Parts: sequence; structure tokens; C-alpha cells
Amino acid sequence: MPTIQELNQFIADPVLQESVTQVWKLVGEHFEQAQATLPAEQAMARRELSFHDHVRLLGYLCVLLEGVPGDLVEIGVWKGKSLVLMNEISNRQRRVIGIDPFVLPNQFEEFDHYRRALLPDALFIRGFSEFCGEHFYKMAPKVALLHIDGGHTGRNVLLDHPAWYPVALSSSMIMVTTSTRPR
Ligand SMILES: C[S@@+](CC[C@H](N)C(=O)[O-])C[C@H]1O[C@@H](n2cnc3c(N)ncnc32)[C@H](O)[C@@H]1O
Repeated sequence: MPTIQELNQFIADPVLQESVTQVWKLVGEHFEQAQATLPAEQAMARRELSFHDHVRLLGYLCVLLEGVPGDLVEIGVWKGKSLVLMNEISNRQRRVIGIDPFVLPNQFEEFDHYRRALLPDALFIRGFSEFCGEHFYKMAPKVALLHIDGGHTGRNVLLDHPAWYPVALSSSMIMVTTSTRPR
């Protein structure tokens, strides 16, 4: 496991920065193209394809994990853009598992449109992460990278703890995306 200093040095490599930025840009373009063909009756009211560029860090972590076997797992999928980034940077060589309840109107329909185009081989569990532990363990996961980006309230963190703590402990790497707003 690298130290923060080693991680910062790794991320500062301009060649790597260019390559991750390029893949993130291409992923964004693919999503925009797919959004343009999304039937109106499947579209969410919310148009955002993702929320911020910091998720690019996942791309660097996937490079860092080259040669380490295991799955890419994400709690909190939204429309799938961060999962597609991880999948592409991992050369589509890993099993990809996403967990999300998709509760907003048309969220599942819109996500499924992108999934068919950009993540055809990925596996999804539709549900709240706090209730999905058992289903997830049945998939016999070996986790290379766990991205926790689902519910951001303290309640979510507390409820996730029993189900996901063992997964987090056995993962090669974890990235937790937090909210900057106190709730
Ligand atoms: C910030 S978005 C995820 C963004 C996505 N990772 C990306 O970067 O493109 C948060 C997602 O978490 C999902 N979510 C909310 N509560 C959840 C829970 N308890 N378990 C799993 N997912 C949850 C929401 O449906 C939403 O799609």
C-alpha cells in the first residue's frame, strides 16, 4: 500500500495525468453521445452525467492496481460514469459490480441505456447498500478497488458499516467520496 506521499508523486506524473485526463474526456464524450439518443420517456429530470472531476482519482488507482487481481466495486452508481472510467482504464479486464437502488424517477431506465452501450458485461445489484451485503457475498467477490459513493449521510455510513467493513478490509484499495457539506 503506497503512502500518501508516494500516491501524490504517482499522480503528479504528467504522462499519466495526460492519459487519465484523455480517457475521462473520451468517457464523457461517449456519455454525451449516448445521452443524445436517450428516449425522452427514459430520461431523468436531472441531466448531470456525473458530479465532479475528482473521481478521476479512480483512474489513477486503477493504473496503480495493474497486476493486482480482483473486481472493481462501486456503491453509488448514478449513471455509471465513474464505473466506465474504471473499466476502461482497467482495459475491461476486471469483473465490474455496481450497487445502487436507482430510486429516482427514470433513474434505472436512463442508467440502463448507458449500461447497454458502455458497460454491457458489468453486474449490478439494485438495492440500498446496507441491505445488499448478502447478495454481494454470494458473488464470491475478490475486490481490487472499492469505491464508496452512495448515500453520503452519517446514517448511511453507520448502516453500511456492518455489511461492508469486511469487504473494505479485504479490498486492495478503497476510495470513499465524501460530501463537503456537513449533514
Ligand atoms: C453521487 S451519486 C454517485 C456518482 C457516481 N459514482 C459517479 O461518480 O458517476 C450517488 C448515488 O448513490 C446512490 N445511493 C444513495 N443511497 C444509496 C445507498 N444506501 N446504497 C447504494 N447507493 C445509494 C444514489 O442512487 C446515487 O445514484
